[in-house]
Amino acid sequence: MRRHVSWILGGAFLVIAFVVGLAWRNSRMSHVSPAPAAVLPPTPLVEAGAEHNFVGSEACASCHAEITEEHAGSLHANSLHDVKGGRFNAPFKTAQVLADPTLGVLYSYGVENGKPVLYHYRDGDGAKIKVEPKYVVGSGQLGYTFLIEQDGQFLESRTSYYRAPNKWTWTPGQQRSAPGQNPVGDLMDPERAKQCFLCHSTMVAMQGDRVVPEKSIFQVGCERCHGPGREHVDARRAGLPDKSLFSHRQAAADTVVRLCGECHRSPRSEDEADLARDPDLPRFAASALTLSKCYQNSAGRLSCVTCHNPHQRVSKNTSSYIRVCQSCHTGSSAANPTCPIDPTGNCVSCHMPSRAVNLPSTVKFHSHWIK
Ligand code: HEC
Ligand code: HEC
Ligand code: HEC
Ligand code: HEC
Ligand code: HEC
Ligand code: HEC
Ligand code: HEC
Repeated sequence: MRRHVSWILGGAFLVIAFVVGLAWRNSRMSHVSPAPAAVLPPTPLVEAGAEHNFVGSEACASCHAEITEEHAGSLHANSLHDVKGGRFNAPFKTAQVLADPTLGVLYSYGVENGKPVLYHYRDGDGAKIKVEPKYVVGSGQLGYTFLIEQDGQFLESRTSYYRAPNKWTWTPGQQRSAPGQNPVGDLMDPERAKQCFLCHSTMVAMQGDRVVPEKSIFQVGCERCHGPGREHVDARRAGLPDKSLFSHRQAAADTVVRLCGECHRSPRSEDEADLARDPDLPRFAASALTLSKCYQNSAGRLSCVTCHNPHQRVSKNTSSYIRVCQSCHTGSSAANPTCPIDPTGNCVSCHMPSRAVNLPSTVKFHSHWIK
């Protein structure tokens, strides 16, 4: 079965290949040589129990106080948690019941002994399965999907909580069910579980092909983008210079897009035409941006950080985006055309409109295919 919609954006390699391919094409078009390979941190997989050089974002606070504080309030720093401590109980305090007639199962929610619980009742004989979710994926900006741990494997909960309608609904990718399916949720194969944790973490500890969450570092922390920090922290604490981290201030645009695109990209290996038709394209900012003429024809002057501060929540300041557009669209040459329709209006509302995707209709993303 083809999974049309999913939080799980699998197929990383093919898509990275796609983005790299585009970057290669662009670099050829603009006669700039391709970026060297080791400009990005390696995939942060570590054997559980082995020594490693990740020190956690807290270790950066003493010297990079402002960035650390900004980052702590970002969605990156809040996108994966253990549910313990009651912080995620609120969505479970609901009388909502979801019904799946194909499976004959009713879904409801509760809190027992301070812990969130998912209930599954079978219509026919009233049989009940009760599970306690272990991890919650998502900052809650849009919603939460819960992970259930069973014998070292993970299930992705069949239902997810969405903030905007303040309701539970089917988890993307699990909207439809087949008789005999596990009503609790999809059992993730090890590769899928790994990818799921990787996009929401700084470092993922592995035992063989299994994720060991207890030894991993959750959240998209500093070291996910700048590389493991031990050497830098030790050197800087000793007052020594250090260049061991990945600095992105001088990075080429396609390097930054590749960094962000490790997570903000298309899940598929489709060609450009298929990608163009993909209703979920607005969710995949990096794939979409690389389809834009603004990106392709601006000789490496446009990347994610032209418009976004990677340490902060997304800015809602419309005029800051308009200024970015106007910095290129000056009309001074055919390569920098001004808008014939509204050269001083809100460029974003017409050229990067917010679009519904294959999620509850209240959830919208901005199309990063600027056109
Ligand atoms: C003991 C102080 C100290 C700590 C702790 C520290 N840094 Fe730095 N860091 C510095 C100084 C000083 C510089 C150089 C001045 C600058 O560029 O701000 C620097 C530079 C950097 C740069 C630019 C690198 C370059 O090559 O130009 C990055 C990125 C960075 N730090 C990230 C981190 C991260 C991530 C952590 C935590 C894992 C961290 N720092 C912890 C002091 C520190
Ligand atoms: C390791 C994966 C990963 C990488 C790398 C990554 N992101 Fe993200 N990003 C996420 C996840 C996951 C979320 C959603 C967090 C949530 O809501 O749970 C997110 C959310 C965001 C948001 C939404 C913030 C908001 O306030 O709505 C922006 C903007 C963003 N990322 C930009 C970037 C940029 C720019 C880069 C590259 C410099 C980048 N990201 C790199 C995983 C990543
Ligand atoms: C390729 C990287 C990638 C993978 C794999 C991935 N995610 Fe995400 N996830 C993201 C990014 C980027 C965002 C923010 C943009 C978006 O919502 O599409 C996000 C957002 C989310 C959100 C919404 C967060 C909010 O803002 O409230 C949830 C929930 C979520 N992911 C759950 C999962 C689960 C569960 C898995 C694994 C079964 C998973 N994701 C796998 C990258 C990924
Ligand atoms: C999502 C990826 C991402 C995360 C997470 C992240 N950074 Fe950055 N950081 C970047 C990018 C990209 C730049 C370059 C921004 C620019 O050029 O405008 C940058 C710039 C910086 C700089 C300026 C120096 C330089 O040369 O890059 C410092 C210092 C820094 N980050 C430290 C941190 C610290 C400390 C944290 C954690 C609290 C952190 N970063 C988290 C992506 C990230
Ligand atoms: C770094 C420079 C740069 C920035 C910033 C930039 N653009 Fe562009 N944009 C270009 C270039 C170059 C082209 C291609 C012009 C050509 O060759 O026809 C282009 C093309 C376009 C087109 C025509 C697209 C098409 O498919 O025909 C639109 C519309 C557009 N830009 C709108 C915007 C908007 C809106 C913003 C801000 C959100 C923006 N641009 C930001 C450089 C930029
Ligand atoms: C030309 C400017 C521009 C560039 C380049 C750009 N973005 Fe955005 N991005 C925006 C605007 C505008 C918004 C909507 C802001 C708002 O909500 O008002 C946005 C929103 C987002 C969001 C929040 C979800 C949404 O779609 O509303 C994410 C995540 C994001 N961008 C990621 C990225 C990543 C990753 C890159 C690089 C591949 C990138 N952006 C490049 C302008 C840009
Ligand atoms: C009310 C909606 C609207 C707003 C606001 C708007 N545009 Fe446009 N823009 C359009 C439409 C429609 C076209 C296509 C016109 C055509 O093809 O004849 C266009 C065309 C363009 C083009 C392509 C011009 C060419 O010669 O190929 C660029 C570049 C552009 N707009 C940039 C911008 C920028 C930058 C802003 C913000 C300062 C902006 N637009 C604001 C609707 C808008």
